[in-house]
Amino acid sequence: MAVLDQLVSGISIPDRSGIVERLEEALADYYGVRHAVLTCTGTAALHSMYAACRLGAGDEVIVPAYTFFATVTPLFQLGALPVLADCNADGNLDVEDVARRITSRTAAIVVTHMWGMPADVRALRSLADRHHLLLLEDGSHAHGAQVGGQKVGTFGRAAAFSLNGPKPLSAGEGGYVLTDDDDVYYRVLLHGQYNNRCRNELPRDHPLYRYSVTGMGLKFRIHPLAAAVAFDQLGHLDEYLDGRERIAAMMRERLTDVPGIAVPKVATGTKPSWYGFILQYRRESLSNLPIERFYEAVKVEGCHVVDRPVSTCPLNTLPLFQDPARYIRHTQTVYRIIRATSRTLKPFITTRSSCQSGIGMRMCTWSNSTFERSARSLTTTVSCYDPTDG
Ligand SMILES: Cc1ncc(COP(=O)(O)O)c(C=O)c1O
Repeated sequence: MAVLDQLVSGISIPDRSGIVERLEEALADYYGVRHAVLTCTGTAALHSMYAACRLGAGDEVIVPAYTFFATVTPLFQLGALPVLADCNADGNLDVEDVARRITSRTAAIVVTHMWGMPADVRALRSLADRHHLLLLEDGSHAHGAQVGGQKVGTFGRAAAFSLNGPKPLSAGEGGYVLTDDDDVYYRVLLHGQYNNRCRNELPRDHPLYRYSVTGMGLKFRIHPLAAAVAFDQLGHLDEYLDGRERIAAMMRERLTDVPGIAVPKVATGTKPSWYGFILQYRRESLSNLPIERFYEAVKVEGCHVVDRPVSTCPLNTLPLFQDPARYIRHTQTVYRIIRATSRTLKPFITTRSSCQSGIGMRMCTWSNSTFERSARSLTTTVSCYDPTDG
C-alpha cells in the first residue's frame, strides 16, 4: 500500500520531504539517534560515512578480514588504507588482534556484526577511546540487534546499514547512515545528497556551505519506492526479529546434539538479529569428512536453500585486495596511494585458520506457518564453517 501511495505522490524526491523524511525520522526514532540519512545502497552509505568522518590518504583503518567486501572497498575510493584484522569463529572482530594492529597512523576501527551476531562492540569502543580512534559500525546484517539493551549502530561516531534484498530490514535496494554528530551529518549530505538537501539542511555558516549546490559531486539518493518498502517494514521490524529469535531458539535446541556441527553461542545480554544462523562444522566428529561432502549431503537431505557465499569471505583471498593498484587507477594521486596500499597490505593479511576457512554455507531456510505472512523476513539462513579448512 505504501508503495502504491508513493507511485501516486512522486517517484523522485530531491529534498528531505515525503517518504524520505518520514523514514529518516522513523529510523532516528527507532535507534534513538539525532540523524539518519538514506542512501541508494549500503555501499553508498559506507562511502558517505567514511568520507564524512574525513578518512582519506594516509589514514589506516582497521577492518575485519572476514566480511562482505563492501564494508571495506569504499575506503579504496578515498585513498585510505584498510588494515585487515583477524576475526573470531563467529566472524566478528577479534579485539586483541585489533589492538595489535593499532599504529600511529590508525584513524578508525570499523566493526561489523556478521550474520546479525553482535560483535564485542563495547570492548572495541573502549579500545578506540583509549587510543583516540573513531569507532564506526557496518550494521548491514544487524538491524535491531542489541548489546546490553543498546542497538548496534549506536556505539560509534556513525554507522552505515544496507537495506538490500534479504536484509533484516529491506528496501530492495537502499542504505542509511546514523549519527549523533552534526558535522558528520552535514558531510554525509555533502558527499552524496547534493543541491536541495545541502542547501536546505546545512547551516549557512558551515565552512562547506558554499559547496551546497554541487556537494562533493555524488548522488546517492534513495529511490522513493524503495523508501516506501522499508518504511512499511520498519513498522514490523521488532515483530520480525521476535519471529527470527523463536526460529533460532528452535534450531539451537534441535541441532545441539547433531554430530558434526556446533550451534552459535549468544553472549549474555546480546540480542542477535539472526540474519544468518552460523554453524561451525566439526569435521573431526564426522571422520574428517571434507566440508564439500558434508555440504552435498545436506543438499541431498533436502535443505531448501543451500548457499556457499563467495563474496562474504576472507578479503585477502580477493584479487582487489591482493593488488588494489591494478584495478583502481582513477587519478595519478589515487594510483600512488593504492600502490602504497598494496605494499602495506601484505604484512597485514595474515589470518588465522578460523578466519581463513571462511567457507560459508547458507544451508537451510526455515520457516514456520505462524510466520508465513512475512516469510521473507522470517526465513533464517544457516551458515556453516569448517574452522580447520583452508
Ligand atoms: C556486511 C555488509 N556490508 C555492506 C554491504 C553492502 O550493502 P549494499 O549491497 O546495499 O550496497 C553488504 C551487502 O550485502 C553487507 O553484507
